[in-house]
Amino acid sequence: MRQDADKRIANNIDEATIVAKKEGLHMKMKMAITGKGGVGKTTFTAIISRIYAEEGYKVLAVDADPDPNLALALGFPEKLIDEIVPISEMKKLVAERTSSTPGSFGKMFKINPKVDDIPERYCKEYNGVRLLTMGTVDTGGTGCICPENVLLKKLTSHLMLQNKDIVIMDMEAGIEHLGRGTAQGVDVFIVVVEPGIRSIQTYKHVKRLAGDLGIGKVFVVANKIKNADDEKYILENIDEGACLGFIHYKDTVGSSDRVNQSPYDSNKETVEEVKNIKQKLEMGVF
Ligand SMILES: Nc1ncnc2c1ncn2[C@@H]1O[C@H](COP(=O)(O)OP(=O)(O)OP(=O)(O)O)[C@@H](O)[C@H]1O
Ligand SMILES: [Mg+2]
Repeated sequence: MRQDADKRIANNIDEATIVAKKEGLHMKMKMAITGKGGVGKTTFTAIISRIYAEEGYKVLAVDADPDPNLALALGFPEKLIDEIVPISEMKKLVAERTSSTPGSFGKMFKINPKVDDIPERYCKEYNGVRLLTMGTVDTGGTGCICPENVLLKKLTSHLMLQNKDIVIMDMEAGIEHLGRGTAQGVDVFIVVVEPGIRSIQTYKHVKRLAGDLGIGKVFVVANKIKNADDEKYILENIDEGACLGFIHYKDTVGSSDRVNQSPYDSNKETVEEVKNIKQKLEMGVF
């Protein structure tokens, strides 16, 4: 029965995809990728972004990690990477949009800056994926109200609530820095885990926060899987039905990082695994 239902959903999605492509429509989907440090968030974000772009969708990949490296994983050439300036470091833009003077901590500024043109104007595109690098603000604690932070928060909220594209956000661990309204605009939170208790703890933490915010859709992608025991371990430690699939540990994926190659170009099997995850995800979201 369940298989039949899955097939029906899959067929509907295929049909919807075909119609969307013919009519040049955009599928709207917002996903936020989180998880403990080093589990493979950027790797997964890069591969799924490239898959959607390859299928002809308009994809905006957002590097919201304070230590941004998604451009590398997407396979951006060095010259283009050198041109990337994170939004938070665009002093003129921050000043202009918030009506503040650079470095004017503690002075008056706009708390509702215009951001709707920022994704289009300041993203960089390669391999069909548009990339927006957010940058970070040295807050010295959470909740800093400074012009840079206000602009980043408004932009994040705009991306999640109003932008029409497929938006895939590579985040740091946790979701507490997203406001309630922004988090509620996210269609799906994907927590990348690896076989080990620490990354599972992060999943449980995100799940709890999402619950507090009234968000139900928290899924797991299990990465760096080496054997059946690893799969069993993951399934035993997360909620039933939460796992979208497994990505196996592959030396070529790890070494792609060292030779500066996109993991999307490094291993066909890994890309296939992510395609299956994507299909399961679409069944769960729509
Ligand atoms: N399936 C895999 N097989 C082998 N190596 C992998 C796999 N997935 C990720 N890696 C490697 O693990 C390392 C961490 O991956 P990645 O940078 O994607 O993690 P991250 O969660 O984004 O890390 P950070 O928290 O630092 O942002 C990288 O060297 C990457 O190449
Ligand atoms: Mg990362």
